[in-house]
Amino acid sequence: MSKDPLSPPAADVSEAQIAVHWREEALIPPPNRFIAQANLTDGAIFERFAPDRFPECYKEFADLLDWFKYWETTLDTSHPPFWRWFVGGRINACHNCLDRHLVQHKNKTAIHFVPEPESEAIQHITYQELFVRVNELAALLRDFCGLKAGDRVTLHMPMVAELPITMLACARLGVIHSQVFSGFSGKACGSRISDSESRVLITMDAYYRVGQLLDHKEKADVAVLAAEQDKHQLEKVLIWQRHPGRYSSPTKLIGGRDFIVNDLLPKFRGQRVDPVPMPAEAPLFLMYTSGTTGRPKGCQHSIGGYLAYVTWTSKYIQDIHPEDVYWCMADIGWITGHSYIVYGPLALAASTVVYEGVPTHPDAGRPWRIAETLDVNIFHTSPTAIRALRRSGPDEPAKYHYHFKHMTTVGEPIEPEVWKWYHGVVGRGEAVIVDTWWQTENGGFLCSTVPGIHPMKPGSTGPAIPGIHPVIYDDQGNELASGSGKAGNICIRNPWPGAFQTIWKDPERYVRQYYSRFCRDPQSKDWRDWPYMAGDGAVQAADGYYRILGRIDDVINVAGHRLGTKELESAALLVPEVVEAAVVPVTDQVKGKVPDLYVSLKPGLAASDEIASKVVASVVSEIGAIARPRHVIMVPDMPKTRSGKIMRRVLAAISNGQDAGDVSTLANPEVVDTIKGLVK
Ligand code: PRX
Repeated sequence: MSKDPLSPPAADVSEAQIAVHWREEALIPPPNRFIAQANLTDGAIFERFAPDRFPECYKEFADLLDWFKYWETTLDTSHPPFWRWFVGGRINACHNCLDRHLVQHKNKTAIHFVPEPESEAIQHITYQELFVRVNELAALLRDFCGLKAGDRVTLHMPMVAELPITMLACARLGVIHSQVFSGFSGKACGSRISDSESRVLITMDAYYRVGQLLDHKEKADVAVLAAEQDKHQLEKVLIWQRHPGRYSSPTKLIGGRDFIVNDLLPKFRGQRVDPVPMPAEAPLFLMYTSGTTGRPKGCQHSIGGYLAYVTWTSKYIQDIHPEDVYWCMADIGWITGHSYIVYGPLALAASTVVYEGVPTHPDAGRPWRIAETLDVNIFHTSPTAIRALRRSGPDEPAKYHYHFKHMTTVGEPIEPEVWKWYHGVVGRGEAVIVDTWWQTENGGFLCSTVPGIHPMKPGSTGPAIPGIHPVIYDDQGNELASGSGKAGNICIRNPWPGAFQTIWKDPERYVRQYYSRFCRDPQSKDWRDWPYMAGDGAVQAADGYYRILGRIDDVINVAGHRLGTKELESAALLVPEVVEAAVVPVTDQVKGKVPDLYVSLKPGLAASDEIASKVVASVVSEIGAIARPRHVIMVPDMPKTRSGKIMRRVLAAISNGQDAGDVSTLANPEVVDTIKGLVK
């Protein structure tokens, strides 16, 4: 689509007509060594999961699990879009992650806990030991707290072994856990306690972050007060000790409310609690999405469908074998950690790594030292972490002896340049990479290459995984064909077992936000009329690979051309001096919107007009003059959320001369004033 860049934005341009200028990348075949050992190499899987085999094909997922009572109905669609999977089945998630492994794997490490201080020894917790610890805690939760199936408990725990122990103890009882990311404030935790009406808060006194032992208990006091302001009264606060036997927080305990778990546990020594056989469609946990605007949404995930989904995808997309050492560097406070640190790997009896600290502490070699020490062979992280490691230690991976057979990227689109560094330097060209696209709401991967079958394409997630049938709609609901070069709203045609069941206490918002936009008939009982809308822009290449362009609302309209923010950022990253880029729309009287481009540079490099010109030249040559940034602003660091996502909203406010709003929840609020000073 070519238009005069100076013409005013056309009112009739469809939302879906996002111009896609990204260069096609060449396909890279998976290494033969990987294929030779892969769990899935037979393309017939796609026939078994063809649309006409839906939903019965998902029996293959459920059969990876132990059922106390086998299910009768694979999928009940009588109440769209509230899908119920494996109805009639009885199951327990904790039993599937622990008890059933004891016969063969009891002496095997289930969790390698790596404390942030390198002076502190790594803990290797066997399946047997994990079983004992989970049982004792389950007995405590049942008998001391009176918790029973269906009750909610909020966890506000750091990345320590006690976090999966606590999750599994809840799951054993059928108690619904709601883990809140430890970096979130006490207030944020409190609003999640009240929304979920949790009876108990489980937290830790302190934890290490960037070399500091942080007081975490103080947040519990704020959380309880915040919940009280919402008229919700917690019964108890349970506090784990980061150093067992020693209370490490300066914040006082409150008598009658606060209890030290480590003091209580001896009373439950040796106790066993039978795993409660729960209905397959009972909730396993709530995961609140961080939501920069509006109330946080408690995504409710089921036991049977969710566990079947994460187990299958861990086995075939993560290619986990029981003898693998698997490290996902996410935080368990996010869905990635729930699905791909805890439930998926443990359901497969793998050894999973839990690392307490930040990847660049005390230096950028830390992840590779951990990989070498534990002989990690599957590695999983996000583009943000990859960029940070590339920025602070591009030569570090080469210094350590580790061999990854498989690596994952997840969470945002990855620029091809960054992908190539991950592949060549971190993976040494030996590892296969999967770029997995999915969301908190989805439970597990939706799109990814099957690593033993498909070639990789830098910057593209790949086709859908077996059983997932995506479609891209323009704003009128017309399907956009693969290879059309047009981007639109990516949706999933069919239900799948890992999908969330509802938004806790807000089923209307669940329907409205995810299912109403492209619903063909709100009265219909046919699942085919209820595609799931992800809210992401995507384009499908002629070969069937999807490229995710980011959230639909991240799109910038310049003179009627809709530019995906990612393609601009990717062009900036082609300039060797640039390590991170973020583009935001600035209101312009003539063009509607113009992009401002924020970049950060490799350490040691000073901002210069020369670099700015190179960035502009790269954008113009990759995308066209239409995308020429108004300004290139070279910043010392990007404003980031605690989970490492760049806060484009803050940059956009600065560029548009507006109030940046509350920035206190950022990981680095101080950078906001510095950036304001640069944009004059
Ligand atoms: O925009 C997509 C992006 O992250 C969003 C989901 O974020 P969250 O619910 O926090 O889940 C993160 C863990 C799955 C999506 O709507 N996203 C996620 N993975 C990718 C991605 N964008 C491009 N490529 C990916 N692989």
